[in-house]
Amino acid sequence: MIIVCQKCRTRFHLDDDATDKSSFVARCTVCGHLFSAYKPNRVQEITFLDLEKTRRDDASDHVMTISNRKGGVAKTTTCLNLGVSLALHNKKVLLVDFDAQANLTLSLGQKKLPTFYDAQKAIGKPLDDFIIATQYPNLWLLPSGRNMVLLNKLYFGAQHFEYMLKDRLRSIKDQFDFILIDTPPSIEFYTLNALTASNRVLIPCQCDYLSTHGVDQVMRLISLIRKNSNPLIQSRILFTMMDRASRSSRLILSKIKDLYQGQTFNTVIEMDGALKDAQILSMPAIHYSRKSVAGTQYIELAKEIISNLDDSVPSVP
Ligand SMILES: Nc1ncnc2c1ncn2[C@@H]1O[C@H](COP(=O)(O)OP(=O)(O)O)[C@@H](O)[C@H]1O
Ligand SMILES: [Mg+2]
Repeated sequence: MIIVCQKCRTRFHLDDDATDKSSFVARCTVCGHLFSAYKPNRVQEITFLDLEKTRRDDASDHVMTISNRKGGVAKTTTCLNLGVSLALHNKKVLLVDFDAQANLTLSLGQKKLPTFYDAQKAIGKPLDDFIIATQYPNLWLLPSGRNMVLLNKLYFGAQHFEYMLKDRLRSIKDQFDFILIDTPPSIEFYTLNALTASNRVLIPCQCDYLSTHGVDQVMRLISLIRKNSNPLIQSRILFTMMDRASRSSRLILSKIKDLYQGQTFNTVIEMDGALKDAQILSMPAIHYSRKSVAGTQYIELAKEIISNLDDSVPSVP
């Protein structure tokens, strides 16, 4: 390991085994300064169920990641409400909360449950043991929680780390008609894993200027994933929190439709206060109020997705 004196900036090479401690106090032999030094984290080796099979397998069409590099664009809201809507269409749906913030898990009124991290640590146990039935028919959840941050800390940079989720989902994916994966705004461990496991990406885009940048960044990441690990991946943009009265919202919507022709959903989700009220009660919009505008639009979106499942829509390279 390399440690650097914080006063004179001299670099010292130390044997990795010089100490067991993750942090320690060192004295600089050049200027005599005492300073705190930290042992760099070692990337841990990942235990895969069957890495070679996982790498050879095509990702499945019914596995969909919800991703945008911007926060607050309705990724989690879409995952929950689309999941519930697909379930209302008699589809068996698994929601995977792959964001350490665990907002999706909380939105279903769940907390402090074993997570994917716990499943990964107990590799001998089937993933089924970590999936819980929600209070809604046809809807299951693989929960997240605070220890999910450790996945990034321990494994980011490990060899083939991006296959970890796909490897674990292999054993259960055929039990469900849809698997929706909620992701954080950052790329790193979680989004790369989700995109490697999915053939479909839904990109929620709020009709404002900054969200369009988030869309652009995900599109570029998707084309990298297509080249490296998942050649079949396809993406579509979903307009969310649309304010039809706002001229700039309408303008941005039509610009993005022009830019990504054929890659946007017909269904548009409008701004709807009922969604926020429903969230306070940890409820999906449509169960909170049958009249919820956004709730009804998510039902329409589910219909569109079911009928388009066999479509093959190319993404922007
Ligand atoms: N259609 C909508 N109308 C009104 N508020 C919405 C709508 N969609 C999402 N929201 C609100 O926007 C906020 C951010 O949504 P969230 O799904 O948490 O975003 P992300 O997961 O992208 O960070 C939440 O408070 C949510 O209730
Ligand atoms: Mg979220």
